[in-house]
Amino acid sequence: MSINQNIKPITTKINNQGNLEIGGCDLVEIADKYQTPLYVMDEATLRGMAKEYKEAFSGLNVNMMFASKALMTSAIAKILYDEGFGFDVVSGGEIHTVYNAGVDMQKTTFNGNNKSPEEIAYALDLKVGRISVDNFLELALLNEIAKSKNIVQKILLRITPGIECHTHKYIQTGHLDSKFGFDLTQIDEAIQLILDEYKNLELMGLHAHIGSQIFETQVYYDEIGVILKEIKRIKDKFNIELTEINAGGGLGVTYTDKDCPPSVKTIAQVIKDSIEFHTKEYDLKKPVLYIEPGRSIVATAGVTLYTVGSSKVIPELNKKYIAVDGGMADNPRPSMYEAEYFAQIANKKEDETMQKVTVAGRFCESGDILIKDIELKNPQEGDILCVYNTGAYGYSMSSNYNCVPKAAMVLVNNSQSDIIIKRQSYDQLIENDIIPDRIKGV
Ligand code: LLP
Repeated sequence: MSINQNIKPITTKINNQGNLEIGGCDLVEIADKYQTPLYVMDEATLRGMAKEYKEAFSGLNVNMMFASKALMTSAIAKILYDEGFGFDVVSGGEIHTVYNAGVDMQKTTFNGNNKSPEEIAYALDLKVGRISVDNFLELALLNEIAKSKNIVQKILLRITPGIECHTHKYIQTGHLDSKFGFDLTQIDEAIQLILDEYKNLELMGLHAHIGSQIFETQVYYDEIGVILKEIKRIKDKFNIELTEINAGGGLGVTYTDKDCPPSVKTIAQVIKDSIEFHTKEYDLKKPVLYIEPGRSIVATAGVTLYTVGSSKVIPELNKKYIAVDGGMADNPRPSMYEAEYFAQIANKKEDETMQKVTVAGRFCESGDILIKDIELKNPQEGDILCVYNTGAYGYSMSSNYNCVPKAAMVLVNNSQSDIIIKRQSYDQLIENDIIPDRIKGV
């Protein structure tokens, strides 16, 4: 089974104490040592997934670029870089973090639909490998900045391939009505501008991304087909053969047993088959392939630990809420996308009766519900709750709502645990706060 087809990290087990253990670390001890809420990343699962990708795509001329938006910390970047990944970055902050981790910036692609002039300048100064240009304004801006720095920047054009995948509408990106990329009808005008006017840009290829948490395989086949068809059209019209294609990310993971994503191997095979078929059909050379998986690399490796606090029973509805010490600020996905998660009590329970409860967060909002109607072993105040599959888009989308400091993150492996993100302090929360002199009074 592929790691993304598991709900739990591969090292998860019940130890001799009867507690849940990940990476050889007792989760109850970890919770006590580092406090909760706590993000826990299992290094073996993370590296395991990185290796699966490497194996599955072997035989292709491929650059694997981890989509930093799913989870960007210096330690995670270092691990994935060591495993052979480059990085898809979408902001000055992601560029800065990846650079801080010691990554060769040639192995990064800068994406985004509204990059600022400052971010572009920073990207050029650090020599990012590729910039995926999203629109006409950016083409002009990038050319101007590259010219001022006397650089010829290698670029891709981000295109909207017009493919719909069946995922949550907020995370579809490849369909016609999308804010991202050049519409297929705009590509020629962009290329003409690059050839005639934008002498500081070198067009290498096309980039698309069709969505996220994808369970289908045919959409990837079709996506590659559309990109290669465009490359053929461009070749015929402009007499240039683009050599690079970027297929984006999107492979789904298993949050609950309702989810059934394909394996990495299956997706890789579909992409290989499509390249094989369409390069023959259009008489093209085999392109250099870029892929940008985010969620599927980090989701399964991560869990979040919470401490159970208050509870509320509503007899009329035959319902029980249990509240934990985190929620929508450390994991906004349930309230944003109605995302579902699986969880278990991490500590040994003497009374093992299962109880159906709804897990509520601690934030001041009725919508701050982490999990609706889940069976847990008689959850009580003080228990440690382990929510699985939180490695992607949890920490990276976390906030300081209600002025609650951000949770810490630990990396576990071979019975060792190390802090990779420190818990935020109250002082850090207000370190950028300024009371202007004129309202300070005397
Ligand atoms: N490449 C591009 C250009 C993207 O826009 C994305 C994700 C990826 C790669 C990585 O996709 P992945 O392999 O992670 O599916 N916050 C949402 C997900 C937003 C995805 C945005 N783009 C969520 O929590 O479900």
